[in-house]
Amino acid sequence: MQDITISIQGSRPLKGSVAISGAKNAALPELAAVCLSSETIEFHNVPLVEDIKVMHAALAEIGAQGEISGNSIRETMPVLRSPLVSVQTAQTTRASILLLGPMLARHGYAKISFPGGCPIGERKIDFHLQGLEQMGAEIQSESEYIVARCRRLKGIEYIFPGKTVTGTENLLMAATLAEGTTVLGNCALEPEVTDLIRLLQEMGADISGPDGETVVVRGRTRLHGASHRIIPDRIEAGTYLIAGCFAGNEIHLQGVIPEHLGSLLEILKDMGADITVSAEAIYVKGGKSLAPAEVITQPYPGFPTDLQAQLTTLMTQADGVSRIRETIFNDRFRHVGELNRLGAEIKIQNDTAIIKGPARLRGAVLKTTDLRASAALVLGGLIAEGETIIQNSYQLFRGYENMPDKLQKLGAAITISRG
Ligand code: EPZ
Repeated sequence: MQDITISIQGSRPLKGSVAISGAKNAALPELAAVCLSSETIEFHNVPLVEDIKVMHAALAEIGAQGEISGNSIRETMPVLRSPLVSVQTAQTTRASILLLGPMLARHGYAKISFPGGCPIGERKIDFHLQGLEQMGAEIQSESEYIVARCRRLKGIEYIFPGKTVTGTENLLMAATLAEGTTVLGNCALEPEVTDLIRLLQEMGADISGPDGETVVVRGRTRLHGASHRIIPDRIEAGTYLIAGCFAGNEIHLQGVIPEHLGSLLEILKDMGADITVSAEAIYVKGGKSLAPAEVITQPYPGFPTDLQAQLTTLMTQADGVSRIRETIFNDRFRHVGELNRLGAEIKIQNDTAIIKGPARLRGAVLKTTDLRASAALVLGGLIAEGETIIQNSYQLFRGYENMPDKLQKLGAAITISRG
């Protein structure tokens, strides 16, 4: 992936509206679901980000005919031609593991490179493999590949030992073509999982209890084509919502589902941001001052780990000491060292970041390591005095559609250089 460097001239107010794109983490499993049918699936409101392009390429590798036009993608997989998902595909995004369940369900064989993606701590897949093995798959590892084989998968009763978003999605997709009924317990409740269930039902899958922690899937012999509009990206929206809370900023978010942001809205209102919510839009204005907060990341509907880094940046401007505890991943504080290089005062104690504010931030040269940390550093650069340079920024483009353009339209002085 070519290197990209972002340069920001900070301390300019952000004012105006921003249109929120489709949800990357809904589009990824939904593209993988293309393997479950030989008919055409049309997707609308697709965020054209790197991870989506990688998944589109992975589908082509295994036999799909697809085309991207604007924010729509059409995919058809008449036959699953090759069972192999290559190393370079899987090294870019962890989401390639989402092909395992559908490939086994459709074809009975899959060879997938171990997942890559963000280095944000142990990214285990034991629940995925446990469930698929109980459904009858034989799974081995061969050098850097996972190789899985099965006759027709069988329906099972399986309770996830822990909440897993892609684990829930993998087994849900596998169950749609399994023989008999599958009952999944302790499922993840993220809106992206619910949106995947909606797509699978549109494809003819027999799934009930989509909003509950227990989901029942009655296996079918085939699924048909569908046309599906992807839900808005609540993490992108949350990132711009946080941006709007800095002093002097005023942002109107369009095309959002406010209920998907419930936990963040509560926190930001308690911190003193001026927020107005309507059916599909949210208006946010930065207060003169911000109160500190104590936050814990949790599975949905709790505060999402994917907004932890961005909220940390906001907390550097609060009047007092804030704490944010990361309970989902065991190494998701790589943005802290970089924020401290801007002048923040953040300490890590076990799984908690302790943020002393308000801190005066000054531009510096930063390096980013993962998608959401990149967004946190951009937010830091936007409020720092002087120029902030963020290296290795291709990460940002894995999950945020046109972020530099959207920020420029809001008044930010942000440019990118490639290579
Ligand atoms: C999904 O990752 C998202 N990615 C992540 O977003 C998000 O941070 C995460 O869910 C949590 O909400 C996609 O949807 C593509 P998990 P996923 O399985 O499914 C442990 C972003 O920035 N676990 O819910 O990989 C695991 O180690 C990305 O867009 C097991 O122990 O996360 C972790 O501690 C980053 N065994 C916790 O559960 C398993 O088999 C949550 O992981 C699976 C997970």
